[in-house]
Amino acid sequence: MTETDLAVPPGWYILCRARQLGRAPKRFMHAGRALVAFRTKDKKLGVLEDRCAHRAVPLSEGKVCGETVQCPYHGWQYDPQGKVTHVPALSACANAANKARVRAWPSVEQEGFVWIWSGEGGAPGAPPTMANYRAPGWTSFVMQTRFKAGVDSCLENFLDCPHATFVHKYWFRAPTKQSVKAVVTTLGDGAQAEFFEEPREKSVVWSMLAPREGKMEHVDRFIAPNTSRVDYVFPGGLHYIITSVCNPINAFETEVITVMTFRYKRIGWLVRLFFEPLSRWIIRQDVAMLGLQQRNLGPGQARAPMCSTEADLLGTHIVMWRKSMLDKTDPPTPGQRRDHEIFL
Ligand code: FES
Ligand SMILES: [Fe+2]
Repeated sequence: MTETDLAVPPGWYILCRARQLGRAPKRFMHAGRALVAFRTKDKKLGVLEDRCAHRAVPLSEGKVCGETVQCPYHGWQYDPQGKVTHVPALSACANAANKARVRAWPSVEQEGFVWIWSGEGGAPGAPPTMANYRAPGWTSFVMQTRFKAGVDSCLENFLDCPHATFVHKYWFRAPTKQSVKAVVTTLGDGAQAEFFEEPREKSVVWSMLAPREGKMEHVDRFIAPNTSRVDYVFPGGLHYIITSVCNPINAFETEVITVMTFRYKRIGWLVRLFFEPLSRWIIRQDVAMLGLQQRNLGPGQARAPMCSTEADLLGTHIVMWRKSMLDKTDPPTPGQRRDHEIFL
């Protein structure tokens, strides 16, 4: 660890979208570290520390050379496991004896995303899949957003109802002062909040995207360590799923991949025409608000305690879970259920 490294809970993180990675090696940030991602000639994926073991030049400034990435300074070549396979200035014998290497991150390309396992040891299994992403009958699109905020703040924002009556007033939620029952349940991989009798009048989003009548089922879910999932289900099989996966660039910046996937009769493609720009507009409102928050939580700011209330349903669960993963202590016991009343 260097002083700029950030300790992150072990997990699968999305480094980039697969389409961001072309023929050349490319530099990405994760937890304060620079990583280089590349695909070899045989399409094998490699994610290495972006720092040549020889004289620290970024490998991302080099090029792919067969099954390796080559440093631009003295031509050292690295395979996707981070091992130096060839040093041009050395004899074959000296090359064979060279044990130099850089750190490699287990990486997988899946559903159009480049995932890395960030944690000790090898990766346990495969990355999670995105629910119903590109499934038959469903329409999906992806948003990639940089927040000037840490992962805790981002996840809480994505799973927080009360802010919507202010930050997204009338766009997503209008203040009604109605009592809403919410049930928070701890899960084996996080926690969820389920809402009952939730108002949705005077909302641009729901007036366009949902039937006027009928119950809305709404569940917000935190999936440790870095993911939020929100489900809205309406009569007639209408279903919206919003999954957001956070990659900490450093302690104060987070890159978020949001997958919006929905089933809307047979006109999902048409709904997407206004749902996508609307979603981007709403996420920009959150970016702006977390940017304001960052003025007091950013670099050099003293960490004064923050007050939480009963209406902050999942924020404390997010912090507890992520801390327990970092400290290697037990997370909250699954199956605990608590009723809340909030006013939206
Ligand atoms: S710095 Fe990379 S080969 Fe010398
Ligand atoms: Fe929001």
